[in-house]
Amino acid sequence: MLEIIEKHIATVASTTLDSPEAAENFRIHYLGKKGILQALFADFKSIPGDQKRAVGQSLNELKTAVEAALAGAQTVSSSKKKGPTEDYSRPGYATLPGAHHPISLVRNEIVSIFERMGFAVAQGPEMEDDWHNFSALNFPPEHPARDMQDTFFLAKDPDWALRTHTSSVQVRTMETQKPPIRIIAPGRVFRNEAISSRSHCVFHQVEGLYIDKNVSFADLKQTLLAFAQAFFGEKTEIRLRPSYFPFTEPSAEMDIWWGLENEVDYRMTKGTGWLEIMGCGMVDPAVLESCGIDPNEYSGYAFGMGIERIAMQRFQIPDIRAFYENDLRFLRNFQGAP
Ligand code: PHE
Repeated sequence: MLEIIEKHIATVASTTLDSPEAAENFRIHYLGKKGILQALFADFKSIPGDQKRAVGQSLNELKTAVEAALAGAQTVSSSKKKGPTEDYSRPGYATLPGAHHPISLVRNEIVSIFERMGFAVAQGPEMEDDWHNFSALNFPPEHPARDMQDTFFLAKDPDWALRTHTSSVQVRTMETQKPPIRIIAPGRVFRNEAISSRSHCVFHQVEGLYIDKNVSFADLKQTLLAFAQAFFGEKTEIRLRPSYFPFTEPSAEMDIWWGLENEVDYRMTKGTGWLEIMGCGMVDPAVLESCGIDPNEYSGYAFGMGIERIAMQRFQIPDIRAFYENDLRFLRNFQGAP
């Protein structure tokens, strides 16, 4: 019997298991229920006592060799499996390019036009005290703009409110910088208004301020004309209509000539052909004084425009609420814009 076992050991040693099928057949052949080892162990019972030790040892040797061969086959087959497991021909996931919000697009364009003219961007807090939002800007205490109808006051302290315009940033700048001052203040503002297709309680403005010696209304007009032509086109015409703001004197409203050729023009310009774009004026001497600037030495102009209205005109968006709903079908229209 010893001889038979030794032959098997030799066979096992010279066997190479190069496929999972070969390994499985080998396993059944040696370790299966009707396999060689089973049969040898059965024979082992009838072996005379004095041979048991030697035969037992070589039987175990055979079993170990068989198991080692199988273990080797498994590592070979699992390392063989390490080839490409992904399907490289499968189409990739689509990664949609991001898009700037239309408000950002218009703001960036307005800001870059004024930056080219030498204006620096200034920013301030969205929550303001009465001084920076109203008092320093020459709003008398009984002015209707302070009314609860227009302003979101803080319930706990009515001296604080959400800013109703970014003119508050102009005040902060005048308080901390010496003239010449040339800034634009883009930002979010808040007014307690009924939400409709034309107005919202949250919107965006860009306001500008220029303070220096001998700044005149002609400087204001020329700056705004240069802006209008850069933004709306080289041939754009503007007109200034007298208006009123507590913080500017004289004050004006700037319109651009939009044209009056079709129904859309009629609707957009209320039948006049002129489109109202912004408020402006010469900074009231009282405002300069409030902010610590000598009105006898310096003068300046200020202007302010709503970004939403300009974006609605530029992109022909009929409802202001579209800007705040974050509807991807709307926002995807602006993919690829600079
Ligand atoms: N602050 C004004 C507004 O919110 C706009 C404005 C700014 C007008 C500067 C004149 C000068 O409507």
